[in-house]
Amino acid sequence: MTLAHDTVDLSCTIAGVRFPLCLMNASGALCVTREELEALGRSRTGAIVTKSMTLEARTGNPEPRYYPFAGGSINSMGLPNLGYRAYAELIPALKTFRKPVIASVAGLCEDDFPEIARTIARAGPDLVEVNLSCPNIAGKPQIGYDFEASERLIRRVRAVVDCPLGVKLPPYFDPAHHAAMAEVLKRAPVDFLSLINSVGNALVIDPDRESVVIKPKGGFGGLGGPGIKPVALANVRAFWKAFDGRIPIIGVGGVVSGTDAFEHLLAGASAVQIGTALVEEGLKVFDRIAGELQAVLKKKGYPSATAVVGRLKEL
Ligand code: SIN
Repeated sequence: MTLAHDTVDLSCTIAGVRFPLCLMNASGALCVTREELEALGRSRTGAIVTKSMTLEARTGNPEPRYYPFAGGSINSMGLPNLGYRAYAELIPALKTFRKPVIASVAGLCEDDFPEIARTIARAGPDLVEVNLSCPNIAGKPQIGYDFEASERLIRRVRAVVDCPLGVKLPPYFDPAHHAAMAEVLKRAPVDFLSLINSVGNALVIDPDRESVVIKPKGGFGGLGGPGIKPVALANVRAFWKAFDGRIPIIGVGGVVSGTDAFEHLLAGASAVQIGTALVEEGLKVFDRIAGELQAVLKKKGYPSATAVVGRLKEL
């Protein structure tokens, strides 16, 4: 591409919902409390994504449960959240910020998901993201690795949610698993995908202390940040191809710069979420990465972020 554009359009549309900016927080990053969610509303983020909510409020796993290191971060938060009733009450206030609100729904068993989804959908979020991929609750395997359970659960949630519905999936590491989950999502259709959650059950060791760095689950936790970007890009690309580009994807994983966001767009994401970099840098990360993405697209002659989606060249 060679055309130069003074301003590049960084908005996007996902499942019919317009986002003023194709960058937003990842669920979990600075989005648990009312104060955090309102601060997101006042920031440059293109959407407000809530922490994954459970039936009852949770304090989460024992601390330390988050640890940043050179390659990214490891966490085992354990779904600390206010409980879905509190988020249902908050959503109308969050909508006054005039950007999409995405309610992230989790659960400790299958029956929790439709119960939460029914009430939260009535509160009027713009989209619902069902979290099938939390790796941090001891004794609760990630649902996204059980294809039958995922299909059953999505069908039950779909039946009670009118707004666009998406799933946040764990990373898959084999094409057979990409294909199997894509078939599930074609049979139990969803409107968008968020790819990927943290790379679960990783272990970071501090050699000086000869110790794990987080307390829950013997130090095992979900890996985020720059180190997981290639895994995230591969999952975005695999699902983009499995759907022939016909499902909007929100890329998550390792977005620290405008170039990282650009790579997610090339792979097939329509928007990206920011986790570790938001926690480490704070809300100004949205301004910085938006500026960097704007500069990358301008230099390359793209008129918009949308024009980049899926254009990755293969050799
Ligand atoms: C957590 O709260 O443990 C993280 C949530 C997630 O990875 O889905």
